[in-house]
Amino acid sequence: MAEHKLLLKHADDKAYATLQGYQAKGGYEGLKKAMAMSREEVIGEVKTSGLRGRGGAGFPTWIKWSGIPKEKTDMHVLICNADEGEPGTFKDKQLMEDTPFLVVEGMTIAAHACQADVGYIYIRGEFVDAARSLRKAIDEAYAANLLGKNIQGSGLDFDLHIHMGAGAYECGEESALMSSLMGERGMPRLKFPHAPFPTVSGIWEKPTIINNVESYAAAVPILQDGGEAYAKLGASTQRSTGTKLFSVSGHVNKPGNYEIEFGTSLMELLDLAGGIKGGKLKACVPGGSSVPIINADSCEKAIIGYEEMGDVGSMVGSGAAMFLNEHSCIVSFIWRTAQFYAHESCGKCTPCREGTKWMLKILERIMKGGGEAGDMELLMQITEQIDGRSFCGLGDAAAWPVAAALKVFPEEFEYFIKNGRSMVDSEEARALAPKWAQAVSV
Ligand SMILES: Cc1cc2nc3c(=O)[nH]c(=O)nc-3n(C[C@H](O)[C@H](O)[C@H](O)COP(=O)(O)O)c2cc1C
Ligand code: SF4
Repeated sequence: MAEHKLLLKHADDKAYATLQGYQAKGGYEGLKKAMAMSREEVIGEVKTSGLRGRGGAGFPTWIKWSGIPKEKTDMHVLICNADEGEPGTFKDKQLMEDTPFLVVEGMTIAAHACQADVGYIYIRGEFVDAARSLRKAIDEAYAANLLGKNIQGSGLDFDLHIHMGAGAYECGEESALMSSLMGERGMPRLKFPHAPFPTVSGIWEKPTIINNVESYAAAVPILQDGGEAYAKLGASTQRSTGTKLFSVSGHVNKPGNYEIEFGTSLMELLDLAGGIKGGKLKACVPGGSSVPIINADSCEKAIIGYEEMGDVGSMVGSGAAMFLNEHSCIVSFIWRTAQFYAHESCGKCTPCREGTKWMLKILERIMKGGGEAGDMELLMQITEQIDGRSFCGLGDAAAWPVAAALKVFPEEFEYFIKNGRSMVDSEEARALAPKWAQAVSV
């Protein structure tokens, strides 16, 4: 198993980011096949493939695409979520920079399946190189009539635009993204059952499909080689098919993006990234900063699959594995994570706005050597008041890492609170700690 390159197969080839180079490697064969099929047949192929959304939730893509009205009475909109703000995740960035035509072709296939007239790629503001690469690809596609009016004589009209975000993590949440794209504040909106699904009434109240960059890119090999071939990958898992891009970072020898077949073990992924650096493996956050941290024992057992990762108490998430070696202080790591979520909370709802700040205050108190008896219980209580009680997923994303760290590494918090310093007492831990904490206690 292990590495299996479908999307990153030609990522090292600079020519692949040009239309000529892309077509030389079979690019646009998928769209050609899709155009010869009805929209229902295209969605059927995606259903057969078993593709689940790669943005984090793992929702079946074909179900989303089927939700678009069959009778077209209004403009249909396609959105590509390229906000990629989850700490540890940088796979969409590479797809856009090195394989921009996979994204453009994938969106055009989706446009045919969903009868979309227009598409928007909402790119994280800092991803300037990704936006440039996509801009060039879109211009080339227009010049070759692979975008625009009556694409390749098929009758499909599809325009594609790029929109740069302004660096707010919350704008990756789909309803906040739509608000931002409409020029409003990037705050989330009411969801089903209190509001219609975006497929019925999304941006500008038009039927809207919103998918992650990798989800659209995956539509290309699915249409090119057939859904069945895609579904064969990951056969050892319960319900995860195809390949998944993982951004691997932390204490590894070869950080970077790796494309693996579902069913690969987490340790095989670590091996691909050159193994652990600077000491023994201590922990991993396998799916982006919001998913629960697991210890080395669980890492040994973890299989990469949406259901399988749940067996060790974590998630595939957005596909970002951060490995920590034995010299990492978990309290310090979680304090940094909590800082991010407190900063990114949009402030719309009380549990998240207040809860993220309280978690940070308590963690900071512990970090500064002033932890008190009862702080762990208090932290856990706050996570329980945020989790499932917030207006959008950011609240849950803020609560899970803290709750999991308290459960998996309680001894580290106990030691820090009792002794006013980290239990991981080493040069490396001191170097990793923030400057003020280094001066105070860690
Ligand atoms: C706070 C927050 C941030 C998110 N950020 C992203 C993101 O950067 N990219 C992404 O694709 N999905 C992100 N999501 C998930 C999206 O809301 C949505 O589920 C996803 O774009 C759907 O695409 P998919 O079905 O292809 O996964 C985020 C969700 C939340 C709650
Ligand atoms: S959960 Fe946080 S980010 Fe989401 S609406 Fe509430 S305050 Fe805003």
